[in-house]
Amino acid sequence: MKIKIKNNIPVITIDGPTAAGKGTISSSLARRLGWSILDSGAIYRSLAFFIIQNNISCNDINAILRLLKTLKFSFHSNDIYVNNLNITNKIRNEDVGKVASIISENSNIRDSLLNIQRHSIQEPGLIADGRDMGTVVFPFASLKIFLTANIDVRVERRYKQLITSKVSVNISNLRSAIMDRDLRDTERVLSPLIPAYDAHVIDSSYLTNDETVSIILDLWKNRLY
Ligand code: DC
Repeated sequence: MKIKIKNNIPVITIDGPTAAGKGTISSSLARRLGWSILDSGAIYRSLAFFIIQNNISCNDINAILRLLKTLKFSFHSNDIYVNNLNITNKIRNEDVGKVASIISENSNIRDSLLNIQRHSIQEPGLIADGRDMGTVVFPFASLKIFLTANIDVRVERRYKQLITSKVSVNISNLRSAIMDRDLRDTERVLSPLIPAYDAHVIDSSYLTNDETVSIILDLWKNRLY
C-alpha cells in the first residue's frame, strides 16, 4: 500500500511491550514538543470493550467488522471517545487488554484500523504509541524508539497504574496476563511486536521517566535528516 505523508509532518514512534512506560513517556514528549499523541492501543482496547459489551465472540470476525463500522473514534487531549462517549477509564483493565491482543491478530481488523491511525497525523507533529507504529503504520517516521523494561519493572509499573486508577488487581494474575499478552503480540504473524530495523532500543528498567524522555529528546535533536 502506498502511504501518503501529510505535508512531511514529523512523527516519533514509541513501540514496545506491555507496561514498558510508552504512555507516560509519550505524554511527556508530546507536552515537551507541543505535539499530539496517537495511543493506538486505546483504539484496539476500545474495539475490545464494545466486543465484550455486545457479547461478540473473538472468533466472529464478520460481526466484529460490522461492529467496527458503527464506531466513530475521536481523541481529545489524553482521552478517547467512541461515538462521542468518553470511554478512557473503561478500557484499562487486563480483560480488555487480553481481548484487544486476541483480535489484533486478525488482518482484516488491523487493516480497518490502519486509516484511523494514519489520519491522526496533525501539525506540528505526532507521537505514535503502540506495537507496530515504526514497522507498519508510520514506517517513514522521523525517529523510531523501541521502549522496553524487564518484566518485574513492567509488572510493578502496571500494578501502580491500576491501583491509582482504582482498578482492583492481583499481582501474580497481572504478571501472567502481561506475559501472555507479550507472547501473543510478539509471536503473531501480522505486525508482530518487534523493533523496526532503524529503531533505537531503550531499556528503561533503571531509568527515571525524565531520563528516558531526555534520551529521546537528544536523539530527536541530533537526528540525521
Ligand atoms: O498498548 P496497549 O496495552 O493498550 O495495547 C493493547 C493491545 O492492543 C496489545 O496487547 C496488542 C494490541 N495493539 C496492537 O496490536 N497494535 C498496536 N499498535 C497497539 C496495540
